[in-house]
Amino acid sequence: MTALLTVENLEANYGFTKVLHGVSFQVEKGGVTAILGANGAGKTTSLRAICNMVKTTGDILFDGQRIKGKATEDIVRLGISHVQEGRGTFEHLTVEENLRLGAYARKGKTTMAEDLARMYDYFGVLKDRRKQVAGTLSGGEQQMLAVARGLMLQPKLLLLDEPSLGLAPLIMREIFHIVETVNKKEGVSVLLVEQNASMALGIANQAYLLETGRVILSGLATDFLKDDSVRRSYLGY
Ligand SMILES: Nc1ncnc2c1ncn2[C@@H]1O[C@H](COP(=O)(O)OP(=O)(O)OP(=O)(O)O)[C@@H](O)[C@H]1O
Ligand SMILES: [Mg+2]
Repeated sequence: MTALLTVENLEANYGFTKVLHGVSFQVEKGGVTAILGANGAGKTTSLRAICNMVKTTGDILFDGQRIKGKATEDIVRLGISHVQEGRGTFEHLTVEENLRLGAYARKGKTTMAEDLARMYDYFGVLKDRRKQVAGTLSGGEQQMLAVARGLMLQPKLLLLDEPSLGLAPLIMREIFHIVETVNKKEGVSVLLVEQNASMALGIANQAYLLETGRVILSGLATDFLKDDSVRRSYLGY
């Protein structure tokens, strides 16, 4: 399998504090990679580094080209969609306006109407609420909107930062199911940062465990599920 994204030896600082100490990971073309780790391990920083939202050293290759140092907007145009932690929808705009904005930098062949229909098909609740302003949606609905908006870009790679945060189990499963469908049916590769290790490993093929800014374990998701330390610390059994 070939790599779509290769991150090599990433180092990042906030002020004088180094929070990533030489982090390397990959996402395969058509694959789902999960990055697990405790609070403060550097998961969000790793995703932000890919989009050049934080200063880093190291190398980042995407789809055969070096993207390290490119402007965030150019990285988005190459087909990397970043669904950030904490949702970040435009709260005064309606659901549909948010979705349309998600498509601003896309290069896809399908029309906006087709894409909206596809999103409403995946996320039925968004269709019912398409005229509602995003700020009044429930937390779970906002999370769905954030993921749907990310998909409107027609990305090659979807970066998801804690999509399960604060969601009831049923909604969480629904979102993961959609991510899995988008990956399998549409071939969108996914880099998934999650506290919910069992959900993430359920849809991932590759996994990495971050601890205080270092990768301390990497391998197949199926091997992670069997690893004693992962089981004890992240799967709770
Ligand atoms: N803007 C910032 N300024 C200073 N320190 C920061 C900033 N953002 C993150 N950090 C620090 O960098 C470290 C890594 O943070 P990061 O957000 O990447 O962790 P995380 O793995 O995503 O954690 P969580 O699971 O809690 O979201 C933490 O110690 C955090 O306090
Ligand atoms: Mg985080």
